[in-house]
Amino acid sequence: MAGHKYQAPRGTFDVLPDVARTRGRIERTAAAIFARAGYEPIATPSFEDTELFERGVGHSTDIVRKEMFTFEDKGGRSLTLRPEGTAPICRAYVEHGMQALAQPVKLFYVGPFFRHERPQAGRYRQFHQLGAEAIGTDSPIADAEAIGLLADLLAELGVPGVELRLGSLGSLDARQAYLEELKAYLRAHETELAKEVRERIDANPLRAFDSNDEGTRAAMAAAPKLVERLEGEDADHFAEVRALLDASGVEYTIDPTLVRGLDYYTRTIFSFVCDRLGAQSEIGGGGRYDGLVEQLGGRPAPAVGWAAGIERIMLALDEESPAPGRDVFIAVADEESEGRSLALILAGELRKAGLSAEVDLGGRGLKGQFKHADRIGARRVVILEGGGAQLRDMSSGEQRPVDTGDLIAEITGGQA
Ligand code: HAM
Repeated sequence: MAGHKYQAPRGTFDVLPDVARTRGRIERTAAAIFARAGYEPIATPSFEDTELFERGVGHSTDIVRKEMFTFEDKGGRSLTLRPEGTAPICRAYVEHGMQALAQPVKLFYVGPFFRHERPQAGRYRQFHQLGAEAIGTDSPIADAEAIGLLADLLAELGVPGVELRLGSLGSLDARQAYLEELKAYLRAHETELAKEVRERIDANPLRAFDSNDEGTRAAMAAAPKLVERLEGEDADHFAEVRALLDASGVEYTIDPTLVRGLDYYTRTIFSFVCDRLGAQSEIGGGGRYDGLVEQLGGRPAPAVGWAAGIERIMLALDEESPAPGRDVFIAVADEESEGRSLALILAGELRKAGLSAEVDLGGRGLKGQFKHADRIGARRVVILEGGGAQLRDMSSGEQRPVDTGDLIAEITGGQA
């Protein structure tokens, strides 16, 4: 349609170069941290069978009830743009027989995820997570290691104002008695609860702790807390995770009201919040999911992991990544093609030597090329003219003849 202005869909955004550079730094820092801890990269498709998330994430969660981008393909199959990465990775773990590998299988990923939420600062419909999963271990050391990795990442990136909240949901069986107690409490306080919470007393009573409604919050202050009801192996596991975090100097606070928006969690759960983020204060979080692999058809494989929101990390960092400029721009004074092909050859040689180099792609005259070199932040300009070459330093304005064969040595001072 002539004159129509297209825009990125609501809740999505374009990652322009200034932001993409920061994102690149975050991804490189994470990849290095993961590699040093023995985590291997994995990528799964952007969409999966809808059932994977219904089963994996849980029917009673907001994600499955309201937030999935679900569509039918031309063969009538129901597919969903992935709202999270843990269920797909467990699917891949089972599908590719990773149980036969050395356990635990430690994987990391980065990529886009999709949730049909109400967009606001820090909450988007397409966002990016980086995450880590250690599948095939129930050791509390795995929990402490996973938590430590996210703490290290946020510290190394320089994210300010971060706090770690820790809780435990106990194992699935042990949780049942507590859930009955909680439901009874919620029913006794039904009139004080928000409609949404009331409607989900049976389906998802834990979410009452997560409500923003004032009445509900007041009622929940005196509600029985799961961390205070942990017994036996669940209590020991949680105590061990805490002791390991203490020993490794990771600071945390126990949050008895901590709950998460996915149904697969068992035992340890955690959340890194950041005071620079406003309402969407969670920068990353995760926990243990000992039953998920089995629920998705695999042999039982306890696991732990987390994911962090890249956009939220960037909001918290609030940093500008200016364009890096260029080491060299090669300008050609004459119209003849010889100079232009020499420029392209020289640029290739400079790039091979690790320098950034550009040539004129706009058919500009010499004056125009200088102006362009200045706009893109070139530190030096090589001018090819009449079979000879000059090297100009753009900050000092100093210009002298050079031999094109010595260009790399001239520029790097013989360091290249
Ligand atoms: P989650 O808490 O749903 O967990 O998401 C993890 C992180 O993704 C959040 O802490 C937040 O930073 C970011 N995030 C979530 N939704 C949005 C959104 N709409 N816009 C921007 N950022 C968002 C999971 O997804 C689990 N799979 C984590 C996990 C891995 N648990 C175990 N292993």
